[in-house]
Amino acid sequence: ESTLGAAAAQSGRYFGTAIAASRLSNSTYSTIAAREFNMITAENEMKPDATEPNRGQFTFSAGDQIYNWATQRGLKVRGHTLAWHAQQPGWMQNLSGSTLRQAMIDHINGVMAHYKGKLAAWDVVNEAFEENGSRRNSNLQRTGNDWIEAAFRAARTADPSVKLCYNDYNIENWSYAKTQGVYNMIRDFKSRGVPIDCVGLQTHFTGGSSLPGNFQTTLSSFAALGVDVALTEVDVTNSSTSQYAGLTQACLNVPRCIGITVWGVRDSDSWRSSESPLLFDGNGNKKAAYTSVLNALNSA
Ligand code: G3I
Repeated sequence: ESTLGAAAAQSGRYFGTAIAASRLSNSTYSTIAAREFNMITAENEMKPDATEPNRGQFTFSAGDQIYNWATQRGLKVRGHTLAWHAQQPGWMQNLSGSTLRQAMIDHINGVMAHYKGKLAAWDVVNEAFEENGSRRNSNLQRTGNDWIEAAFRAARTADPSVKLCYNDYNIENWSYAKTQGVYNMIRDFKSRGVPIDCVGLQTHFTGGSSLPGNFQTTLSSFAALGVDVALTEVDVTNSSTSQYAGLTQACLNVPRCIGITVWGVRDSDSWRSSESPLLFDGNGNKKAAYTSVLNALNSA
């Protein structure tokens, strides 16, 4: 196959990208995005500050722009994200305790109702752990340690048809404390019947030629708990071809690794554009890393 999406589909997987609504009018950008990818994540447009700028007042114009652009082209959409310490609207940053807890539930209900039955997955909770494996100290955490499971239970009720994911970065190395912290939470959730379907490993990689220790073991260990795994925000400093090929192969080697999403189209679109971390250069040309990923997908 000659595109990332079609190549990934040979094994029943998807290959996605993050999309910024403001860039869709750029034809180089939108042409590459529609041609290469078959799963779309809104880079910012479905986050809490974007969708509920005032309490109880939901706006979906930018999110819908991406949703409509994608689905008109036959591409699926992942939702990102419902409960997060960052990119909260100002009014939410100022809440605490039971008021904040209720606002979080109301936010989940409001956004999920709008997209009910339309999305492949939701990142229900994003980045809730510290690097040392403990819970991140945030206004949400201060509402009580059960805030994450409360978010997942509300999400399941709001849209029983969509896959519910926990999403985080620096959980790729199996030996890392944060990975173990998240793993223990997922194991606990599965043992107690808290609804969760998937874990997103953001996969923001930095430097070196090899992958973080036992990356594939991390994927298979999460999967063994009974959840799907996905690489949700991939980018690699200087687009190391060996790391890109390696992370692709690791996903292909794990049956429950259902897809890979890169966090942007061209290097110039990236949140870390100075590190040239994506598969297309600023002019929209395929980089060596693109070929390394495509070849890995095609030889699966
Ligand atoms: O749209 C405003 C613009 O009007 C304003 O003039 C400008 C001035 O700062 O800011 C623009 O908003 C920026 C927005 O991106 C859109 O470009 C925000 O400042 C900026 O903070 C925001 O950054 C986003 C970041 O999340 C915020 O946390 C990045 O685009 C986005 O790629 C990044 O994505 C996150 C994932 O959601 C979670 N995992 C990590 C990943 C990378 O940080």
